Amino acid sequence: MLGFVFTSLVDMLEEKVSPEFADEVIVEAELTNDGAYTAVGYYPFEEMQKILSILTAKTGKSVNELLYDFGVYLFGKLAAVHGNVLADTKDILQLLEHLDGDIHVQVRKLYPDADLPRFTVISRTDNSMRLRYFSERELYPLAEGLMDAAAAHFDCTLERETHQMSFPHTYEFSIQVV
Ligand code: HEM
Repeated sequence: MLGFVFTSLVDMLEEKVSPEFADEVIVEAELTNDGAYTAVGYYPFEEMQKILSILTAKTGKSVNELLYDFGVYLFGKLAAVHGNVLADTKDILQLLEHLDGDIHVQVRKLYPDADLPRFTVISRTDNSMRLRYFSERELYPLAEGLMDAAAAHFDCTLERETHQMSFPHTYEFSIQVV
């Protein structure tokens, strides 16, 4: 998993709680590199899971809630650092439609070893979409947070439902722009 994701998570803890809290979490997670992440490095996904399990114990929030909150925060970071990637996108459904074929493709050029999910558009109207998400990491709550923050970026709100599919590692989002 890309270091940018880890540095963003640590930033979130520092900003939303405190630098001391972020330090405490890193120490308790007993990370192999003591949490010394660089944005362009790559680190095992298990490290993210360790941090999340410490956070669950400390905050009482579920891993899914934490991932959702982090998704919202991460979108802000991505938009700030990689705003150019979003420059040609005019609304939320266009963004989601081009996530797989364009946005994450550009991400892959910047970070060749990025662990990116797969998104497939199943159906689409002017204000709705069914979007399928596949990732062995099953970070669908992170995707939900990213989507809601992206919608806010375009001044709209989503009504969404998430359905787990019968085949592995796959979820489908039914999305309506309101
Ligand atoms: C609503 C829009 C977006 C959604 C729903 C989305 C979804 C996701 C998800 C769920 C992941 C976690 C990996 C996984 O699931 O296996 C991910 C990773 C990532 N995405 Fe996106 N993404 C969005 C927009 C963007 C944008 C705008 C950028 C950059 C400009 C971006 C860059 C990345 C990067 C750098 C990673 C990390 C890859 C790694 O850890 O190696 N994403 N995305």
